[in-house]
Amino acid sequence: MTVKSIVFDAYGTLFDIQSVAAVTEDAFPGHGEIITQIWRLKQLEYTWLRTMMGRYADFWQVTRESLGYTLDCLGLPRDNAAFERIMQRYFDLDLYPDARTALAGLSGYKLAVLSNGSTDMLNKLVRNTGVDSFLDATVSIDLAKKFKPVAEVYELIESVLGVPYGEVLFVSSNAFDACGAKSVGLKVAWIERVTAQSLAQELEDHQRVRPITMFKALRMRMEELGLEPDYRIHGLTDLLEVVPKAT
Ligand code: 2OP
Repeated sequence: MTVKSIVFDAYGTLFDIQSVAAVTEDAFPGHGEIITQIWRLKQLEYTWLRTMMGRYADFWQVTRESLGYTLDCLGLPRDNAAFERIMQRYFDLDLYPDARTALAGLSGYKLAVLSNGSTDMLNKLVRNTGVDSFLDATVSIDLAKKFKPVAEVYELIESVLGVPYGEVLFVSSNAFDACGAKSVGLKVAWIERVTAQSLAQELEDHQRVRPITMFKALRMRMEELGLEPDYRIHGLTDLLEVVPKAT
């Protein structure tokens, strides 16, 4: 069956979560990079822990709690104004530079986002960045009250978007998400933004392993779960080569 719909992950795929680094550095000078990396690692851990424990709380709460954890573990104060200023960045993250070109080039396909983000977070983010004008739908896992990579989350593609799995290409740069989608039988394009070679080079170039390098090693390489994506691409515009131009 041919692809009729392209469904994107949000954080880390269309939107650059590393773009919080400027505000974390501004709020806590000298700590921006470590805050940024621990925060994202913890945020995802909490989605998995809450799902496994059957204690769902939406992504806004998870994101706040993981930021609180991060500041505490680094011995930094939970200054209210700084905390809220950092959190606000989640409503206006940078788009990856090739996102607009890719989305515009894919018009003709049914385009959607399926994300861990809460409905409110996602609505604000797609509106503030102007991405909403390219999308047919923005779907939050709020509806399943479980986080990725649980199968029920990906089933929202059929039940909410009304598109059968066989007609979908799911796109994510989060390897665990690409594996989750593959596990339920979706066709998957994984964005390999960090190659093994570039990571090895980064380790060689820096005597001390930086937090961002650890993050890349832990979250930006393909997982060893026996689930191979259908396509390995290096950026969003590579999708234009993967699927035929819609007529
Ligand atoms: C998302 O669902 C996995 O954070 C990623 O947007």
